[in-house]
Order: sequence, then structure tokens, then C-alpha cells
Amino acid sequence: MKRVAILISGGGSNMETLSRSMTGDHPARPALVLSNVPDAGGLVKARAMGISTEVVDHRPFKGDRPAFEAALAKAIAPYTPDIICLAGFMRILTPEFVGLWQGRMLNIHPSLLPKYRGLNTHQRAIDAGDHEAGCTVHVVTGDLDDGPILGQARVAVLPGDSTETLAARVLEMEHRLYPEVLRRFAAGDNTPVCLPGPDERPKTGERSD
Ligand code: GRF
Repeated sequence: MKRVAILISGGGSNMETLSRSMTGDHPARPALVLSNVPDAGGLVKARAMGISTEVVDHRPFKGDRPAFEAALAKAIAPYTPDIICLAGFMRILTPEFVGLWQGRMLNIHPSLLPKYRGLNTHQRAIDAGDHEAGCTVHVVTGDLDDGPILGQARVAVLPGDSTETLAARVLEMEHRLYPEVLRRFAAGDNTPVCLPGPDERPKTGERSD
């Protein structure tokens, strides 16, 4: 049974759906939810699900990334995770820290990588007039929002979409994609997950009848 540590900074909706998916014959279980933000809403959700939590506040380290990451490693170690899932974790990790977890750390990013690495992905897709957007789960490497892609989910960008309406549509697919990717990854299967599947079409929000 693989042990999974989930790192968050905010509401933790991805952490929640990931944790709830790890039941029954799923080859992994959540061992820890850690946040760099002491009052992150996701910590409350994790505790309500009976998952151990830790907080490593990045602010006292004032940009001393290695010191923050040493504290991170110290907090994580006792839970002996096999896999780390970044889920809305908004700190950039150094290649050294990533190297410790080489190939065993996943991240979900709200764009169809390699498009729109970094922030404000939905606004950038709307500004570019894209008809499609989505999210990507990838193996974390030393380069920001890079690394082997383990899955992608596509949604339509609709006329009149705001960043909020697009973000909500993408988040819904994140909650489907990440658990599916983790299930395969924990079983040692890196076959990429593509959503919607062949028998589904991206939800356009327009009535089909
Ligand atoms: C998601 O949009 C994810 O793509 C991005 O941060 C958000 C996390 O939301 N990395 P939540 O904390 O999982 O609700």
C-alpha cells in the first residue's frame, strides 16, 4: 500500500477528492496533508477526514528556500510517504528538494501544458482566444510546471467565459483527472490519462438536443 503526502496552500478541493478516492482496492492511502499556510481551509477538511496534518509556515524563512525546504522535509519524514502530490501548493520547490523525490512527486496545473506555465492560466487562455482549456497532471522536475505529463483533461472555453467560470469548469475536471492519474501512478502505470474519454465530449454548456 503506497503512502501519499498531499501538499496544499488553500481550500484543498483537489486534496479532498484525491483523499476520498484512496479507498477499497486503490493501491494508495493518504498519510499526510501538509500546508505552508497555517489557516488553509484544506487543513480543516483533512482533519475532518481523519488525515494527519502538518503546517510549515514559509513566512518565517523569508525567501530562504533551502531552510524552508529543510523544515518541509523534517515535517514530512515521519510519515514516510512513497508519493507526494502537490495540490494547489503555491511554493516553488528547488531542484535539490525535487531531486529528493525524483519521479515520485506529482503536480496538477490548471492549463494544457506545455501551454501557460506559471500563473493566471485561465486569463491567458481567454485573452488568447483559445477554444479549449484544461488541466495537466505531471511528474515534478526541477523546471517549473514541466516534467513528464501523466494526464490531461480538456474543457471548452465558452463565449463570455470569465476567469471564474472557466476556472470552475477546469476545477471540476481536475477533481476527475488527479484521482485517476494517482490510481494508475500508485499502481506503477504511467499510461497517460486523457479526459474526456473517447466516448465523452468536452462539456460545452450548450444543449445538445
Ligand atoms: C487548482 O486550480 C489547481 O489547478 C491549482 O490550484 C488550485 C487548487 O485548488 N494548482 P484546491 O486548493 O485544490 O481547491
